[in-house]
Formats: sequence, C-alpha cells, structure tokens
Amino acid sequence: MYPKIIEEFVRMCDDGYRLGFNEANGGNASYRMAPEEIKKCSEYLDLKNDGDWMSLGCEITGLSNEYFIVTASGSLMRNAGLDVEGTLGIVQLNDTGDAYKIIWGLEGRRPTSEFSAHLLSHSVRKCVSGGHDRVMYHLHPPAVIALTYILDLNDKIFSNALWRSMTECVMVIPDGVGVVPWLCPGSRELANATCEKMSARQAVIWAHHGLYVTGLSFDDAFGKAHTIEKSASIYLDILKTGRPILQTITDTDLRTICLSLGLKINEELLEV
Ligand code: 13P
Ligand code: ZN
Repeated sequence: MYPKIIEEFVRMCDDGYRLGFNEANGGNASYRMAPEEIKKCSEYLDLKNDGDWMSLGCEITGLSNEYFIVTASGSLMRNAGLDVEGTLGIVQLNDTGDAYKIIWGLEGRRPTSEFSAHLLSHSVRKCVSGGHDRVMYHLHPPAVIALTYILDLNDKIFSNALWRSMTECVMVIPDGVGVVPWLCPGSRELANATCEKMSARQAVIWAHHGLYVTGLSFDDAFGKAHTIEKSASIYLDILKTGRPILQTITDTDLRTICLSLGLKINEELLEV
C-alpha cells in the first residue's frame, strides 16, 4: 500500500486509461502536495539527495520549495498501478523555483514533456484559487478533439456548445473553457498559451490534441474532464442525427442553474 495521495493519483491514471482518454503514453498529470501529504510520504523520499538539480530554464513564480507528484514522460497511464515508481515520481523545486530534483520514483525517466505547462499552470492556479487547485490533468478525449475540427477555435463558441449540450455541464465549468490553437506538444508556446487561459478558466482545450484541466482534488479535476468529454460527445451525437435543433438550454436556464447553486457563470461567454 502506498500513501493515500499516491493511490488516488494512480486511480485517476487508471480511470483515464479505462475511459479511452489516455492511450499509449497519451496524457500526463501532476499534483502539488500539501505539507501533511509530504510528511505521510516521507519514508519514501530521498530528501538528502542534494546533487541532481535539473534546470527548468526559468523561474516559476510562487512555487519555490513545492513538491509535486508527476507522471514520467513516455509512461503509460495504463501501467500506473502495475509499476508505480516507473510511472510516477515526486520532485521538489529549489529555493528559487528554477530547478527540480527527483526525490522518489521516476525510475530512469524524466517528468512529462509537458512539465513546463504543468508548472506554469500550477503557478497561476495556486495564485488565483487561493492555493486550492492542486491537480493538473492532461488527456486526449476523442469527442473534444473531434469538435476542434468543426467549431471555431474560440472560448465563447466552445463554452456554449458544451454548456448547452448537457444540463449539468455548466455546474462543473461555470467559467467555461479556454481554447488554444494547435501548438507543438511539449513546447514553451503551448505551456505559455495554456497558463494564460488558466488565469480565468479551469479547463483548456488544445486544438487537435486534447484537454487540460485543473481542480482541487483528483475527483474534481477528473470530474471536469469526464463531464466536458461527455458534453462534447452528446454535441456530436446531436449533429450526427442530421435533424434540426428545435429547442436548447437558454441563457436564462444557464443563469438559473448557476444561481440555484450559488455559482457565478462567466457572463462574458453568454449570448453567442
Ligand atoms: P509525455 O509522455 O511526455 O507525458 O507526453 C504525452 C503527451 O500527451 C504530450 O502532450
Ligand atoms: Zn498530449
């Protein structure tokens, strides 16, 4: 048995694989650990390893001395439960937030190729969520990817398509989704575009590639990803019928749902 936080991380990887969101080495995830979780993992951690700092190439604001659980580049989420220490690891950032060292796991591997997108997004979400958002999850969900071929790549079009395809979607992402154009996987451009969107959204669609979500827990982040993909899939099912749309969820309906739950819908994205 591993500490609970590791078990929860593995479960999200396993769920992602089982639902077809994380094929082969597709997707990656990271978790910013709370002090009590670091303590619970301490028997595994090589805290004395002081030699192998790897440069991040820039200073990441507000993350100095933070600890992250992260998936290994090239690892299969399908294998997370079978090979925990080969699939995940724990890294610590240094005092200046510009280098990391591996203190557990990631055996013979490096953190995900999207590590800069993860760290920059953690930096932004830690600040805007008051420290609550801890999970970053990237996946390749088929319906979301399909929509990026037929809808204009903008936040308003995608947020409305998703909100209006399933009543509960707006409850899960009242801020809507951000959309970024196709950018090279693992690139600094993709990391920068993602973290820019993350300042106002908890979910970002990467055109023709996938989805990137944050949340305060694994249930929260995975629930967002699952809901967004379900809405996208219903949207496609509606299109596939070829029948005209006779009625839909209105702006008033969306506001009513949010009001009833004490949520604040992003008004800028309404009224397409
Ligand atoms: P990694 O195996 O490096 O995490 O890359 C997978 C991926 O989905 C890149 O976008
Ligand atoms: Zn990817």
